[in-house]
Amino acid sequence: MRSFIQRFALMSIFLFSIAAVISCTKKTNTTSGPTGDVIMIGEVGSMTGAEATFGMSTHNGIMLAVEEINASGGVKGKKLKVVSLDDQGKPEEAATAVTKLITQDKVIAILGEVASTRSLAMAPIAQQYKIPMITPSSTNPKVTEIGDYIFRVCFIDPFQGLVMSRFATETLKIKKVAILRDVKNDYSVGLASVFTEAFTKAGGTIIDDKSYSAGDIDFKSQLTSIRSKNPEAIFVPGYYTEVGLIARQTRELGITVPLMGGDGWDSPKLKEIGGDAMNGSYFSNHYSAEDKSPNVQKFINDYKKAHKEVPDGLAAMGYDAAKVLADAMGRAPDLSSAAIRKAIAETKDYQGVTGTITIDEKRNATKSAVVLGIDAGQFKYKETIKP
Ligand code: PHE
Repeated sequence: MRSFIQRFALMSIFLFSIAAVISCTKKTNTTSGPTGDVIMIGEVGSMTGAEATFGMSTHNGIMLAVEEINASGGVKGKKLKVVSLDDQGKPEEAATAVTKLITQDKVIAILGEVASTRSLAMAPIAQQYKIPMITPSSTNPKVTEIGDYIFRVCFIDPFQGLVMSRFATETLKIKKVAILRDVKNDYSVGLASVFTEAFTKAGGTIIDDKSYSAGDIDFKSQLTSIRSKNPEAIFVPGYYTEVGLIARQTRELGITVPLMGGDGWDSPKLKEIGGDAMNGSYFSNHYSAEDKSPNVQKFINDYKKAHKEVPDGLAAMGYDAAKVLADAMGRAPDLSSAAIRKAIAETKDYQGVTGTITIDEKRNATKSAVVLGIDAGQFKYKETIKP
């Protein structure tokens, strides 16, 4: 039989442990977790590096949305708090960042990345921990195929490829196109392929198909080959830094035909890097700042007030991704991963600044795309193409 002293000691240890557990739980509760006072959300983006405008614009869009949500009371009476990490445009950094956000910062949802290659590095980790992830703007189909916790609020590249193929055949009325793709970029490779398929189906011919790697600065040998085939346009589904350089070198080689591309062109830096060489070219995008809808104009004005510039498509997509997430959290019966996941999947007819967002059974959004032309250094709205 235990002595009174022994029993007293055991009891005290027991009570002490309970108190310790309670105080720990309480501590976590006040900062994060599904039952905390604050809702912790993680963001991963390229805030620095050759794609810095993608990360920064997206971040600004997300923060504008979060400020608005918090100002109107937050979600389920709790304020949203965003922990943002810079991946410097590197897939391995994006993977490390998402792991840290989930395991150390205990975020209950992730926003990001922009680039498909980096979303592909992040998604398996979010899926493994069952933390819902919404990419604002990664368009490669493989991203959401990773699993049922991975969503996007943008269209996918098979549609974007079709949009530019239609624009080439029906609006520009051309039949011979050359391609210059970035082989280090899943988005670029995928978009080049779907464009090829759509354009060939529509009766066009891809007369040359050349490649480069992100970070290259000299594209003259590929462009010389392309020039010898006399294309009527060159499709360059890359990101703005290389596209700007490619445009300059294209004109230096005396090639005057339009360049065409996808959403990866969307950056204020494109005009800086490419200069006048960008004029007369076209790309598909998620949004046009010329859209006169009142909700779009309100977003543009609010963004301008905060950042003294017109928001690009990335900012608009970041804003919509954060709002869709908050809307889903508001509808979810509780803030468990499974409940948030289900509510995001059930998003229907959400009126975003980049269009109406309905999440389909593959966790993608079916939306219209716009084609923008570049004229005197300005992005000019050309047409809207519906899915
Ligand atoms: N869609 C691109 C990708 O998947 C990323 C991007 C979106 C870039 C929008 C610019 C604007 O990699």
